[in-house]
Amino acid sequence: MENHDFKLGLTYDDVLLVPQYSDIESRKFINLRTYFSRNIQLNLPIVSANMDTVTESRMAIAMARVGGIGIIHRFLSIPDQVAEVKKVKRAQNLVIEDPITISKEATLEKSLEVMQNNNISGLLVCDRRGKLEGILTSRDIRFKNNLKMRVKDAMTPRNKTITAPFGTSAEKALQIFDKYRVEKLPLVDKSNKIVGLITSSDFQKLNQFSNAAKDSDGQLLVGAAVGVKDGLKRAEALVEAGCNALVIDIAHGHHKKCIDLTRELKRKFKDTDVVAGNVATIEGTEDLIKAGADAIKVGIGPGAACSTRIVAGAGVPQLSAILEISPLARKYKVPLIADGGVKNSGDAAKAIAAGSSTVMIGNMLAGSYESPGEYYIEDGLAFKVYRGLASRDASIDRQTTEAKADKERQDRAPEGISFRVTYKGEVKKVLRNLLDGLQSGMSYSGAKTVEEFWSKAKFIRMTEAGAKESQPRSHQT
Ligand code: XMP
Repeated sequence: MENHDFKLGLTYDDVLLVPQYSDIESRKFINLRTYFSRNIQLNLPIVSANMDTVTESRMAIAMARVGGIGIIHRFLSIPDQVAEVKKVKRAQNLVIEDPITISKEATLEKSLEVMQNNNISGLLVCDRRGKLEGILTSRDIRFKNNLKMRVKDAMTPRNKTITAPFGTSAEKALQIFDKYRVEKLPLVDKSNKIVGLITSSDFQKLNQFSNAAKDSDGQLLVGAAVGVKDGLKRAEALVEAGCNALVIDIAHGHHKKCIDLTRELKRKFKDTDVVAGNVATIEGTEDLIKAGADAIKVGIGPGAACSTRIVAGAGVPQLSAILEISPLARKYKVPLIADGGVKNSGDAAKAIAAGSSTVMIGNMLAGSYESPGEYYIEDGLAFKVYRGLASRDASIDRQTTEAKADKERQDRAPEGISFRVTYKGEVKKVLRNLLDGLQSGMSYSGAKTVEEFWSKAKFIRMTEAGAKESQPRSHQT
């Protein structure tokens, strides 16, 4: 073993941001725009973790709508993960180019199932050649008590369906919605073939989410995780579905397998950003950047549901890891994602100040309406489950969802834990608090942008008494 000159490893609770001179008149002048990866910009530096109790399409949609991004976890079959990506892509574009359709011979029961699975309130009815035959909305079904009824007996038929040609402008579509009091406008070509759909709710969402993180087609951004085992195959399907970033999900990213997969993915998918990690050292970061990574995920063991540091004794306190790696990342112009250990908005501000471009969050977002899974009631309170990907619970569950049961892995010592979190309701409240706290933290450093934050922020290390003093408390004697 090398003779170690022990370095000091610090984390969020060891430091504070020292207040700096500021001339920022209001927090609204603070811009949180940042890079998630080399080619993907966000309006909010927050990423939801690729965990099966945190991010599927519902969370990813909520994240992108406020300007961040969600990473769909990989513990789904490839078709199911692809379907989650597609749901995000469909969520907020004005023209849906590939609307979901149903046959007129299908039952209302089947139609309801398709609507529910896709989070939509209507279906275009078409024949086998894709020609429009009518439209069926949830309103057409709501008062029917026989769900075995055929679509053709409940739909608005073609001759009563208002349509428009492809290329109809937003203004024109608005006029049609207003004039005919309809909520869905199918677009058809001269031969009556369906070529798109505009819905009135998408107009409302466009106005409501002006800060949304979108790709060049105006669709919400989304990332998806891939593992080293079936990474290439999975990636191919995800990219085909329109996924904007591939995130390699491996606990120890400074590993030959992760470096090789990064190189392979970059070679195959030149136009899709590849995020590699997790690492906690300069060497790990440089190896992944040289393999082509477009962003680096930093964090070995800081996560709330991680037990790696206890089980394996390995890791680096998160703030020191980011501080040490960030000059190298800056040199290569590759953004860092600070992954794990963010317990409050102050931690997020410290992570960004230390040089990361975004923070990846699990625990703080878990337990919300948008996180996967149902809530349950215990002792009169509502909870959801949050669990580490390497927890025993997660690997037992995966035995049923993964094609091949991995008995060996299930029997290994778990490097994650599982616990309940109080049900939080809609995640937008959490995100609002994070946004406010981040802007406040930047304002204390006199920084109007993330780049300014990196250059102006100064940390001070605290003693335990300082950390204690930082906690709100009542002075009772
Ligand atoms: P937070 O603190 O936001 O952290 O909940 C989320 C991050 O934790 C990581 N993660 C794990 N780390 N064992 C680990 O050592 C696990 O079982 C595990 N599950 C998740 C992951 O990086 C995530 O983004």
